[in-house]
Amino acid sequence: MDDVKIDIVEEIRRKTNIVDIIGNYISLNKSGKNYVCICPFHDDSNPSMFVSPDKQIYKCFSCGAGGNVFNFVMDYEHISFKEALKLLGDKVGIDTKINTVIKKKNNPIFECYEIITKFYENSLFTNKGRDALKYLNDRNITDEVIKEFRIGFSPNEDVVTKMLVSKDFSYDILIDMGITVKSDYGYKDFFFNRIMFPICDYDNKVVACSGRIFNGEVTSKYINTKETSYFKKGNLLYNYYKAREYALKDKYVIITEGFFDVIRCHIAGFKSVVATMGTAFTSEHVKHLKKLSTNIILLFDGDSAGEKATYSCGNILMKNGITPKVVRLPDNYDPDEYIIKYGAESFKKVMDNPISFIEFKLNYLKNNRDITKIQDLSNYVNDVIVELNEMQDQVMRDITIDKISLDLGIDKSIITSRLNKSPTKLKENVISSSVHIKNKYDKASYKLLYYMLNDIDIILMYQNRNVMFSNNLYRNLANEILYFYKNYGTISSASLITKLEDKKELIDLVLDIESMNYQEKYNREELDDCIEILKMETIEKEINRLNDLLKQELDITKKAEILNKIVELKKREL
Ligand code: GTP
Ligand code: MN
Repeated sequence: MDDVKIDIVEEIRRKTNIVDIIGNYISLNKSGKNYVCICPFHDDSNPSMFVSPDKQIYKCFSCGAGGNVFNFVMDYEHISFKEALKLLGDKVGIDTKINTVIKKKNNPIFECYEIITKFYENSLFTNKGRDALKYLNDRNITDEVIKEFRIGFSPNEDVVTKMLVSKDFSYDILIDMGITVKSDYGYKDFFFNRIMFPICDYDNKVVACSGRIFNGEVTSKYINTKETSYFKKGNLLYNYYKAREYALKDKYVIITEGFFDVIRCHIAGFKSVVATMGTAFTSEHVKHLKKLSTNIILLFDGDSAGEKATYSCGNILMKNGITPKVVRLPDNYDPDEYIIKYGAESFKKVMDNPISFIEFKLNYLKNNRDITKIQDLSNYVNDVIVELNEMQDQVMRDITIDKISLDLGIDKSIITSRLNKSPTKLKENVISSSVHIKNKYDKASYKLLYYMLNDIDIILMYQNRNVMFSNNLYRNLANEILYFYKNYGTISSASLITKLEDKKELIDLVLDIESMNYQEKYNREELDDCIEILKMETIEKEINRLNDLLKQELDITKKAEILNKIVELKKREL
């Protein structure tokens, strides 16, 4: 955002009405002061998103998407901040002087990948690519599919670097991208004699290539271009863009492990399919998958590595509020091999019968345990209890308990007596805050921050009375609010969100706080109480810290000093 003036950003934001902009994309219904709608960023049929005309922000209580008008347009259109700014600027007649079309074309990295992708595509259908093409065709990948996935071939000669240098790309850029390597003999191509897969970003621009051996060389099966700011394996998913087209309609998305698995599923008619790229599944992946569908099917290789990957991927999804389904293939087959061997019809049947991740997990925990042995059985039951306690769905929990006790031949009470009274409570009302404010300190902090976000009097009060948030996140937000006020003489959550840029945690906090149902005007006494509570917390934390110190201190006089300090603080607490 550095080279775009903040006042232009703010002007555009003020001239647009978030209700009109979002209303252009999806249908909104009035509900009290706000509007509600079905969130477009996750798969849902209930209205879980609200749009506030007063505050000019939106938030989904189900998937957590939220922000101001810029965030919505960026996420919905899959565009950058600058592009969103230009789009909205054009709408309200403000010239942002941003030319996004030219900017994209001029980016040498995208241009370079596009050139080599075309070059590899063409090479596959020349005489040099004959063996590679035969390999693909022998694996039942037709020319049509090859073209659709833009699969190519890197010939066994040093041509790509020379070609790109002749087009004025610098050696430095080519080396940074991982297309060229520098050796004692000069610059050389990185890829030789490999089948090439272009890897696209979330906007379908090629940002990396992966090359596979095909005639039995003893070397890495796949090699990739280097990670750059555009290509991070922990961030991208193979085939995301194409899958998106189908996911929104078909309402599922399949995750596999390999390029060939994606392509084979696609051929078999399961086109909403993506793959991780030989790397761990991350929360970043989840964020993007949620935009396709929350109905996620894990279809990893049938071997034990695939089982392990299913386990860790499923856990990451669960942490992000999604319970995936799982399909396990027999005899160590990967999806590609399975479909080749048994055909698309048989595959379809397997896909129609996924198990829930919970069921998978219960089986997985049994692995390498002999539950006829007491020790193994009790370890297993203990693991199961941990899982049950985390289970949100009461019905699912009861059914699971029944099934487990039956399977293991143990009395249900052995399990039930060790469970929490009720599972961690789910939100009953869709339009309610997504946080569980745990204690009075959180409550006090939320209330104070809420009024700081809505009233400059309270910002001044925060400053004048030296309020201290002992929680880092709260303190950071308070500082951001103060800083914003000092710079602009005003405060609004929607503008603050723009300034917070990629400080996701703080933006989420602002949205959470703003979705609390506090009364519009603050109550002075209530806020005094909040400040008092926060002071107490700070003192309590200091006492705890001193107590720890006391335990470690060996010197008698120093011990006495610390003790004195504690006594002083305790007096203040009364
Ligand atoms: P085939 O063996 O041809 O069926 O390929 P596959 O797509 O099924 O690959 P596999 O299941 O062996 O591996 C899964 C994914 O991990 C691949 O698609 C690659 O993204 C990645 N991968 C596999 N082997 C390597 C390797 O040697 N190096 C790197 N960097 N990545 C690899
Ligand atoms: Mn495979």
